[in-house]
Amino acid sequence: MNSTEYRNWVNDKLNIGEDVLYLSMQDVIDTGTTAEEIIELTERAMIAYSAKKVEMPAKIGLHPQPDSLMHAMPAYLPDEFACGIKWGSNFPTTRERFPGLTPTNCQIIYNDHESGLPLAFLDATWITEVRTPAVSLVAAKYLANLDATTFGMYGCGIQGKAHVKMIEHVLTKLETIYVYDLYEAAMDKLIEQCQPLVNARIVKASSYEQVAKNCEVIASAIPIHHHPHPVVKDEWISKGQTLIACDCHSVYEDGVYKRADIYTVDSEEQHRLLETYGYYPWGLPEIYAETGAVAGGLKPGRSSKDQLIVSNNVGMAVEDMMVARRVFDRALEKDLGIRLPLWKSTK
Ligand SMILES: NC(=O)c1ccc[n+]([C@@H]2O[C@H](COP(=O)([O-])OP(=O)(O)OC[C@H]3O[C@@H](n4cnc5c(N)ncnc54)[C@H](O)[C@@H]3O)[C@@H](O)[C@H]2O)c1
Repeated sequence: MNSTEYRNWVNDKLNIGEDVLYLSMQDVIDTGTTAEEIIELTERAMIAYSAKKVEMPAKIGLHPQPDSLMHAMPAYLPDEFACGIKWGSNFPTTRERFPGLTPTNCQIIYNDHESGLPLAFLDATWITEVRTPAVSLVAAKYLANLDATTFGMYGCGIQGKAHVKMIEHVLTKLETIYVYDLYEAAMDKLIEQCQPLVNARIVKASSYEQVAKNCEVIASAIPIHHHPHPVVKDEWISKGQTLIACDCHSVYEDGVYKRADIYTVDSEEQHRLLETYGYYPWGLPEIYAETGAVAGGLKPGRSSKDQLIVSNNVGMAVEDMMVARRVFDRALEKDLGIRLPLWKSTK
């Protein structure tokens, strides 16, 4: 379908300019978009970004509470006719302060790329939940030793669980998954929810050190502090390991990043901006390439079993908009959501 055909297809199902489709999180899930699709879409988005085939300014943000963030994330993917903005937040204290509510919450305004009019307002919390581990999986696919039998997860919250549920899509030989969290209850809950869904045995680790010393590939998703307090010592990390972070430099001592043989980020522009906000008090390490440039073959990935590789990905709006396009199309096909009146043309 070309751009006009696609717009006509949408307009047949939704009166563009008069109605806007509201999709709750349940509607988004009910589209039936699978983990495999999300991994494939996320990889395509990362490759398109690093090939400079999209428009995506670095995200800007507000910080209403200590260590909280609210990010404005616009993106346009011309090849997908996908365009919109995500407004995503993480308030680490929400769970304690407001029991029953979760710390990460996101919404997307999804727009018509030909007129700019809004097409949909959708919950993007689930999209964020699954596309974030998908980014880590893309990093693992090109940067990890794929015969790894051990995987570690720092942080057993929403992201920790989503990573553990999805990691075997790429690391197919896993035998043991070590998980660690400040809170015992978070580890127990992860094991209860994830063990029935994965083949590898999930082990509750007793310390950061146990994970660091036993896992070939480690992902991390703990709260991002504006002034990081690294908990994993440089001396615990060895050559050959792959460390994938979706929490900036929250976990490892700075020496780990600086001695890595390969250090990738999802968006160089984004991380340089975050550096000016003070997220990397010891300075960004030398960036070898964007993760999407490695996935797209512009730069080689892992070339030897012994390389220490770090991939630090903060998340990009192109991933959200790529997935949003699929979700939006499916919602129209399945007649999901609620149509809200936008306005009546006075012409
Ligand atoms: N890169 C991205 O695209 C992206 C997307 C979503 C979330 N995130 C980030 O991922 C992180 C986790 O998000 P979430 O939604 O899973 O939050 P969450 O609150 O559900 O999970 C965080 C977990 O970390 C644990 N924790 C806190 N401090 C810890 C420490 N020092 N050591 C070990 N565990 C610790 C908490 O107990 C909790 O279980 C946040 O920093 C968030 O900003 C990144």
